[in-house]
Amino acid sequence: MKILIIGFNTRHIACSAARAGHTVHTMSTFNDIDLMECASKAVVCTIQDVHHMDLDEIAAATSPLLPVDGVVLGPGFEHLAHWIRNIIDQKTPVFNNFPEIIANISNKVWLAHKLKEMDIRHPYTLPLDSITAQEDWTAGYPVMIKPITGAGGIENVLVHNACDLTKLLHEIGTNKDRYLIQEFVKGTLASVSVISTGQQAIAIAVNEQLAGLEWLTRMPFAYCGNITPYESDYSTLICNTSVKLAIEFQLMGSNGVDFIITEQGPVVLEINARFQGSIDTVENATGINVFQAHIDAFENILPAPARYRNYSIKTIFFASRKFTVSKKVYEYLLLCLKSGNGVDVPPEGTVVEINEPVVSFISCGDSRQQVVQQVNSFVARLVDILYKDNTED
Ligand SMILES: Nc1ncnc2c1ncn2[C@@H]1O[C@H](COP(=O)(O)OP(=O)(O)O)[C@@H](O)[C@H]1O
Ligand SMILES: [Mg+2]
Repeated sequence: MKILIIGFNTRHIACSAARAGHTVHTMSTFNDIDLMECASKAVVCTIQDVHHMDLDEIAAATSPLLPVDGVVLGPGFEHLAHWIRNIIDQKTPVFNNFPEIIANISNKVWLAHKLKEMDIRHPYTLPLDSITAQEDWTAGYPVMIKPITGAGGIENVLVHNACDLTKLLHEIGTNKDRYLIQEFVKGTLASVSVISTGQQAIAIAVNEQLAGLEWLTRMPFAYCGNITPYESDYSTLICNTSVKLAIEFQLMGSNGVDFIITEQGPVVLEINARFQGSIDTVENATGINVFQAHIDAFENILPAPARYRNYSIKTIFFASRKFTVSKKVYEYLLLCLKSGNGVDVPPEGTVVEINEPVVSFISCGDSRQQVVQQVNSFVARLVDILYKDNTED
């Protein structure tokens, strides 16, 4: 099929589609080398803020990529099925969840109510605008303040006491209606990858989620990768819960459910009704092509359960300062790409702003420790080159 993939970042979806044998057309904000290699046609659009996009401009930029046999809306665009339908031929299928379902699930206050109704454990949550003074929050500390509809964890703030809550309420001011306040739950972050037809679903992998690791990012809760598999006593339980949620919400194709595994058992953190960043590690650990499984699910076909064949890790390295990708950095990243250990590789000369993703490192091996050690050494080498570039400036 000739597939159009639109998103803030699309490499993970586009390369999976290409590996499944599809012809890929894509519009995204990155011109990564590996994205360009797997796409037959690619348009790069500058988007400063996914919440305030000029959709007419993006539609105009997308038109040279048409016609296609199907569309997948990726990060930042998942809810825009009505918009894309105005641009494409009416008969062209859009392989995404229904926008109304996405709107509900991605609203973390709505989800908190729904999970309570379903009697599924979830951190205690209130909309922040229901709190006018620190006394209104009686569920203890620390607490998480985060956007009601967010992604990537980059705006999340941990508040340790009532005094800091008052300060933050003051800072947020009239924007309070965009945020929620939530009990902070301690534990290991895990996600379950699910493929769903709307009526039936199967869990294909359990992943450890990496967030806010100091050697990868300065943002304390930023999503910075995955390790597949994540094995614990709760695997069956969280897979069953994820399948139940996928069916309850009539999810279609590839979706994910995030959990925090606490000492008292798992707590659902959120449902991501979209392709996950974990697609790389899931594919490398199971051998399943997630893009094809996604498309097949729209034809009511689910993949056969697969065993893990090895451990796989992906780590996203974020810029701790603004810099330009030098020849040396580029050559190193290209080597990583060629050896299968680097993805999302920016071309030489790319200006990377502070806290923006630079590149992702990938590794496969027989144990968690082995894959962590490997990517650690890839990151250390990059940091070393960046440091030398900086001191030679
Ligand atoms: N209630 C919470 N307790 C503990 N950690 C949390 C909580 N909420 C968010 N986090 C942390 O912040 C990250 C991002 O939060 P999440 O709710 O998943 O938002 P996003 O949609 O931005 O990914 C999580 O992966 C986790 O590390
Ligand atoms: Mg999340």
